[in-house]
Amino acid sequence: MLPKLSVIGTGYLGATHAVCMAELGFDVIGVDVDEDKIKRLAAGEVPFYEPGLPELLTKHSGGGKLRFTTSYEEAAEFADVHFICVGTPQLPGQLAADVSQVEAAFHALAPHLTRKALVVGKSTVPTGTAVRMEALLAELAPCKDVELAWSPEFLREGFGVQDTLRPDRLVFGLHSAWAEQQLRVAFGPIIAAGTPVVVTDFATAELVKVSANSFLATKISFINAMAEVCETVGADVTALAAAIGLDERIGKHFLRSGLGFGGGCLPKDIRAFMARAEELGVAEALSFLREVDEINRRRRVRAIDLGGELLGGPYPGARIAVLGAAFKPDSDDIRDSPSLDVAATLGSQGADVVIYDPKAMDNARRAHPELGYAATLEEALAGAELTMLLTEWREFVAMDPEAVGGLVAKRNIVDARNVLDAAAWRAAGWQLRALGRP
Ligand code: UDX
Repeated sequence: MLPKLSVIGTGYLGATHAVCMAELGFDVIGVDVDEDKIKRLAAGEVPFYEPGLPELLTKHSGGGKLRFTTSYEEAAEFADVHFICVGTPQLPGQLAADVSQVEAAFHALAPHLTRKALVVGKSTVPTGTAVRMEALLAELAPCKDVELAWSPEFLREGFGVQDTLRPDRLVFGLHSAWAEQQLRVAFGPIIAAGTPVVVTDFATAELVKVSANSFLATKISFINAMAEVCETVGADVTALAAAIGLDERIGKHFLRSGLGFGGGCLPKDIRAFMARAEELGVAEALSFLREVDEINRRRRVRAIDLGGELLGGPYPGARIAVLGAAFKPDSDDIRDSPSLDVAATLGSQGADVVIYDPKAMDNARRAHPELGYAATLEEALAGAELTMLLTEWREFVAMDPEAVGGLVAKRNIVDARNVLDAAAWRAAGWQLRALGRP
């Protein structure tokens, strides 16, 4: 018989995991302390934008395979395997991650574990957290046979369903053959599809996630550092990336230069990793991550400078169309969004900023009510003296330079994601500046 599953925390990671496990045939209960979120999920509504997820939620919530609750007691009663999927955001004003939601989830679940069960941490945590949570379970769970495993999640927003159902790999940090067997059953359909499994210890499993994200962030900052050099010598970073990416040892992925990385994972994960390394006395080993973060920040400054060059002076009073607020396309997430950060800086410098984003408008407006917003791309462009393309939504990449040229007051554009055909835009009378391109 298949184990029953609980998924604790129903944000991007947890909601996607819960729905996908139901899709794989398991009976699943999703748990969250946020009553509103649980109400919406129970009503078949995904509280954030993730392509493909609403359809799967509708498919399974009606059929009884998937339900949602705010009761840990109900989850403990129901499930044999409990996935911890709560967030670990950056602590305000610090580099370190806030693990209080993880601790709270273990504190809330453990006292209800009255029969043998496996708890599986999926949240991204500082090394050493799993050992602490294992001790907490031993102390608080009435059943002394409860075990812990750590299995980090690698899903990308916008590809959450695909990455959960067909991940590149599964990583199991564990202490016993029983825990491994439980995980092999819980991920059975994914393993049967040929997904490689790495079985290891807690510390390695915790590290796999942060080191993978550090590598990805480093790769992006590497190409953005090359963009800085290209700007000085008049070279083209997109051609450079294409050329070095053809070397299989380097690979073409994550070499898109531009405004840099943002989101709820990469920025906070490299910072939390540096903070943990400092505590562990190995800060020097990760000192390069400080530079990775710095390069990433400098791209925002450079994009603003390019806009100033096009305007021929400072920003006060300038009407600027900002295209994109989400940290990347196909997402409504504005956490650590380079685009929104640039928009806010322009606003604080006195520019008349009008933002349009296909999905992230509500989130952006909540975070920055002081900025201007347009209901459509055309409305944002109308009368603009400068257009800043900051998130590469398809709708923006597909703009016809001639047609949108008729909307703006001045044909000035900064392509901060290197996605426009510069020759075509220039032929249509636009002054175009791009990061890392002549
Ligand atoms: C990332 C990891 O990819 C994922 O494995 C992990 O589980 C969570 O963090 P995500 O934050 O959803 O996923 O976004 P991702 O697609 O990785 O992009 C991160 C940021 O890097 C975005 O802001 C994106 O615009 C930027 N990026 C990505 C680049 O600037 N250049 C690139 O070549 C790739």
